[in-house]
Amino acid sequence: MASLGYSFLFFYSYFILTLFLLHAPLLVTSSTYRYKVESSSINRTAPTNSTKRHHKWVGPVGYREITVDVNGAGEFLSVQAAVDAVPENNGENVMILISAGYYIEKVTVPASKPYITFQGEGRDVTIIEWHDRACDRGANGQQLRTYRTASVSVFANYFSARNISFKNTAPAPMPGMQGWQAAAFRISGDKAYFAGCGFYGAQDTLCDDAGRHYFKECYIEGSIDFIFGNGRSMYRDCELHSIATRFGSIAAQDRNSPDEKTGFAFLNCRVTGTGPLYVGRAMGQYSRIVYSYTYFDNVVAHGGWDDWDHASNKNKTVFFGVYKCWGPGAAAVQGVSWARELDYESAHKFLAKSFVNGRHWIAPSDA
Ligand SMILES: *[C@@H]1O[C@H](CO)[C@@H](O)[C@H](O)[C@H]1NC(C)=O
Ligand SMILES: *[C@@H]1O[C@H](CO)[C@@H](O)[C@H](O)[C@H]1NC(C)=O
Ligand SMILES: *[C@@H]1O[C@H](CO)[C@@H](O)[C@H](O)[C@H]1NC(C)=O
Ligand SMILES: *[C@@H]1O[C@H](CO)[C@@H](O)[C@H](O)[C@H]1NC(C)=O
Repeated sequence: MASLGYSFLFFYSYFILTLFLLHAPLLVTSSTYRYKVESSSINRTAPTNSTKRHHKWVGPVGYREITVDVNGAGEFLSVQAAVDAVPENNGENVMILISAGYYIEKVTVPASKPYITFQGEGRDVTIIEWHDRACDRGANGQQLRTYRTASVSVFANYFSARNISFKNTAPAPMPGMQGWQAAAFRISGDKAYFAGCGFYGAQDTLCDDAGRHYFKECYIEGSIDFIFGNGRSMYRDCELHSIATRFGSIAAQDRNSPDEKTGFAFLNCRVTGTGPLYVGRAMGQYSRIVYSYTYFDNVVAHGGWDDWDHASNKNKTVFFGVYKCWGPGAAAVQGVSWARELDYESAHKFLAKSFVNGRHWIAPSDA
């Protein structure tokens, strides 16, 4: 009976959470919905006495809200001040409610502060922006270099953001300019969730650095390698918008060994803007990028993909693919022999949230 009781409790809490998620979407983030499933084969219709059916909550206990309003109507005027108010080794869900307005500041969420959500009032009205470039000098006099330019940097796990935009407002580089990389956002923590967010920059807008990430209904704008890094990420129902003037590229993925599970899976996205545009570049030797069910406007460069540097023969080791894409640019995305139309067998793992182990940390209603 013990295990029956246990599973009943599990389903009961699942039910309550589902209700809660449906009725209070503003209050509950994906991070509230977190349980550990220790058996991968659960038969929900047949209770058994197996000791393997063992679910327990891991993660945050409790919930706290912090308000930020640039016009003074909240507890804090700046987003960083709100993050600073969260204790080290935070164990609560912390919802930072950010009113409409421009927050002109550089923000860091340190690794010691997991379970934080940035909730804006809409990606067109709540905006965090800064303007650092790679060639600018930091406090120590050293050049920042690309990764430290991000207007917002998150090193913590279980971060989420909803209905808010992140911008880097440094001017777009002229052709041939060096050191003008300027990131809007850097995510280096694991299990990060984004919905309804905007990311605006030119070269290197979104640093999808490390960890498992899920981007839903986001808008990402840039010119060169505007999504880059070694994350393991799914982009679902997103718009990827190029502002390139001479040549641009969307994704530069930095997987460096066949053992790494990283890669970018674009699912049901839209590619728009100006070109010509490479859809993917082999930043790492084993770079992995797949576009599925994605619409391509007529902006794709001849060949579609770029091997980054010819000398390292990356065209033999990368995994670049498309699956059931469409639109006037879709044919060009199959322009090189090392980026092929996939069959279902090789595409299916890039089509579901399991690519980022989402079952364990993304609520069904959030996927
Ligand atoms: C689940 O249990 C039911 C009832 O015992 C059984 O009919 C069904 O085949 C099981 N399904 C799986 C996937 O094991
Ligand atoms: C579970 O174990 C109890 C006690 O051993 C037994 O009475 C019961 O029939 C078992 N239930 C199932 C579904 O196997
Ligand atoms: C917030 O984002 C969600 C997900 O993209 C979207 O459906 C909703 O309309 C957005 N709400 C506002 C106020 O922008
Ligand atoms: C792969 O890259 C090498 C080096 O640039 C080139 O010589 C070769 O033709 C390429 N192979 C294919 C199949 O495109």
